[in-house]
Amino acid sequence: MKKIIVSAILLLLTMNTTKAQVYLDPQAPIEERVKDAISRMTTHEKIQVIHAQSKFTSAGVPRLGIRQLNMDDGPHGVREELEWNTWNPAKWTNDFIVAFPSLTCLAATWNRELSATYGNAVSEEFAFRGKDVMLGPGVNIQRTPLNGRAFEYMGEDPYLASEMVVPYIQSAQKNGVACCIKHFVLNDQETDRFAVNVNLSNRALHEIYLEPFRRAVVDAHVYTIMGSYNMWKGVHCCHNDELLNGILKRDWGFDGAVISDWGGTTDTWQAATGGLDIEMGSYTDGKLKESEFTYDDYYLARPFEKLIEEGKIPMEVLDEKVARVLRTIFRTAMNPDKAIGSQCSDAHYEACRTIGEEGIVLLKNVATSKKEHPLLPLDPTKYNKILVVGENATRSLTQGGGSSELKTLHDVSPLEALQALYGDKIDHAQGYTSGRAIYDQVDRIDPARQAALKTEALEKARNADLIIFIGGLNKNHRQDCENGDREGYALSFDQNELIGELAAIQQNMVVVMFGGNPYAMPWIDSVAALLHCWYLGSEAGNALVNILSGKVCPSGKLPVTFAKRYEHYPYVKYINESYPGVNKQVYYKEDIYVGYRGFEHDKVEPLFPFGFGLSYTTFKYGKPTVAGNTVSVDVTNTGEVEGKETIQFYIGFEKCPEDRPLKELKDFRKISLKPGETKKVSFTVGKEKLRYYSIASDKWETYDGPCKIYIGGSSANVQSIKL
Ligand code: GLC
Repeated sequence: MKKIIVSAILLLLTMNTTKAQVYLDPQAPIEERVKDAISRMTTHEKIQVIHAQSKFTSAGVPRLGIRQLNMDDGPHGVREELEWNTWNPAKWTNDFIVAFPSLTCLAATWNRELSATYGNAVSEEFAFRGKDVMLGPGVNIQRTPLNGRAFEYMGEDPYLASEMVVPYIQSAQKNGVACCIKHFVLNDQETDRFAVNVNLSNRALHEIYLEPFRRAVVDAHVYTIMGSYNMWKGVHCCHNDELLNGILKRDWGFDGAVISDWGGTTDTWQAATGGLDIEMGSYTDGKLKESEFTYDDYYLARPFEKLIEEGKIPMEVLDEKVARVLRTIFRTAMNPDKAIGSQCSDAHYEACRTIGEEGIVLLKNVATSKKEHPLLPLDPTKYNKILVVGENATRSLTQGGGSSELKTLHDVSPLEALQALYGDKIDHAQGYTSGRAIYDQVDRIDPARQAALKTEALEKARNADLIIFIGGLNKNHRQDCENGDREGYALSFDQNELIGELAAIQQNMVVVMFGGNPYAMPWIDSVAALLHCWYLGSEAGNALVNILSGKVCPSGKLPVTFAKRYEHYPYVKYINESYPGVNKQVYYKEDIYVGYRGFEHDKVEPLFPFGFGLSYTTFKYGKPTVAGNTVSVDVTNTGEVEGKETIQFYIGFEKCPEDRPLKELKDFRKISLKPGETKKVSFTVGKEKLRYYSIASDKWETYDGPCKIYIGGSSANVQSIKL
């Protein structure tokens, strides 16, 4: 008998060690690889893979030859290498990269194909740097123009954000690099970001704030998702059971890994049972300070292992997390088809430039005297002295901003590109200073220096026959920067006064603004031309000059509403409770009426509406026609140059039993037209365009009543037709 038992154990042991190592077979179905790997892992090895082992890596299983996950920021390019255990730069010399335009710039292109180009290019740089998870893109909704991180996101409309984030993720993940869409969910301000609890209706939650994340999971099959610091229903989103186990995993079928924001994990039991799969950056308040800790002190490390060993939490809970981590590893780090990628290639600079060119929005362009053409595109033969004024003509806008900061190989500034094109016609005056881009404090500015810079600019302006002002926001704290919101809707550093005084000296003036958010424009009636450029990345100067010179015809459209006054934003009437909150409670009292939805609901006219953007040519829209549930319109280029137009398609529910916005974006097409060319554009009204989240039934419903269809080149310039 004894002999039989011994030989049975020996047989089992041999079987176990020699059983086919399915988990290492890249051709094997991923679920079999996952199951096989889990069956070989010890409890401690399972615990190791669900939390950080360094600032930006989570462990693999060395004994089994299962790779670790290398993660890195951010949405616009690969962050410089940091030290293994700290936020300090590692000072490597091979991690200079391309900074791609900000995601708000990408949204402003309204070009789905360019978004795929962007995702492919940026993920090739992550792959080349040996990264498996890129911590982006971000799709939090721009409900306030004060959000310090709006530049990392895709505007105020969930449909536009969804349509632009899906191609980015699909093409990025084709390279075997996981996207980590963030920050899930309701991280729509930086003020009190670690502690604020967001209160809102289920209707607003689903229709506005969850929708881009839902589309990323359901349509783009995003591999990982980052939990946000803030709370919803009083529980931190990094381990919120209803949000993660309920909505994300049960309802949407998400099969990837939930990664905490850095320092976003606050409790072992919640982290273990609330849907978190990889704990990162704990014992820091996200970015600022560390405490004495080891990675084994993490909430999902020793404390969780103890609960498993004591049987207080079943092994299945741990195995479920491990399965999601292994799925991510097999899709990336151990994916035999993972791209080698490339860094700073010509193709990446070209992608950067093209996205920038198509994201720049021409907001104003008039002639400065009756008989003339509009000021843009510039005719250099008309000017001898072109004065470039403004700190953003030379300031790096790729450094700073928080975790999306980048160490670039070669940026082309606006001034460099203007000098390259217009030679010694160009003169420059800084005009103002904004101090240093310090992560968590506003640098002190010497008033005397500010005054001297302004005086110099005004003096030079008197001898110029054209002024190009280049300013706006930047990546300083309390501008467009993580971990803080803007102090107000006005531009900083006395720019408004400077612009006003320059315009009084020279009416031939182009204003070029950088920034992730709208701002007040008290000088708008005094300037002939205005471009908003978001952040253009490494090719900023070339993209801008190609638009100013007319080499490229501007085609960008606003992904966010520019209000005349801050008070006009829909949430402001509800005062502090709606932003930035009272006692760490924020109430989204504007509900679904965010952005243009709110401006139209409140009947407030914006300065520049959602979807607005001018061209160097003009487009004529024919009368829309309806055939069945398809609406069509002819669009003609009635100008003298080839241009691209984004035809926007909105639907209004005319007889909905519940209050609805006047109209909502449901589709768009960006087309190119030669002078005189006409194209027909058609949109079909399928059921998916008639969904709304019902207050009464607390679930998605399909509207089946009469609709009004609105078609045009901006939310405020539409023709309507009944359907
Ligand atoms: C940050 C950010 C997040 C970033 C992470 C790692 O605090 O909120 O977007 O990816 O830490 O740097």
